[in-house]
Amino acid sequence: MRIEDLISMAADARKNAYVPYSDFRVGAALLMDDGSVYTGCNVENASYGATNCAERTAIFKAVSEGHRKISAICIVGSKEGSFAFPCGICRQVISEFSDENTKIIVAKNEENYIVRSVAELLPDAFTPNDL
Ligand code: THU
Repeated sequence: MRIEDLISMAADARKNAYVPYSDFRVGAALLMDDGSVYTGCNVENASYGATNCAERTAIFKAVSEGHRKISAICIVGSKEGSFAFPCGICRQVISEFSDENTKIIVAKNEENYIVRSVAELLPDAFTPNDL
């Protein structure tokens, strides 16, 4: 799967964002290690803290279908001209289902994106190995 295809899927998923409070649309697309693909969008709530980010929507869909390891995750936000990096909670959840080869792709569009590792976004992470 090309990075550009994953970006395009994340941008498509963003169309379903439920964002009546922030009007900030986010889409995510995951490529799992077995080749399966999952997408997600942010889903807000009148009780703001109940909001689910796009990354976690996609990850929980994949994990609930039995998939465990993320090869690549792509995130596309909606503010013109800026990248939407994952929030702290999403970094922790990404870390749970990633390894040192997982690519985190933060994209403005198919031509403009940044690729990071989990260690770069969440150094000294608390992991299952710490329990
Ligand atoms: N949001 C995401 O979907 N992913 C992130 O990593 C950052 C924030 C959403 C949550 C909320 O619906 C909106 O962006 C504004 O915070």
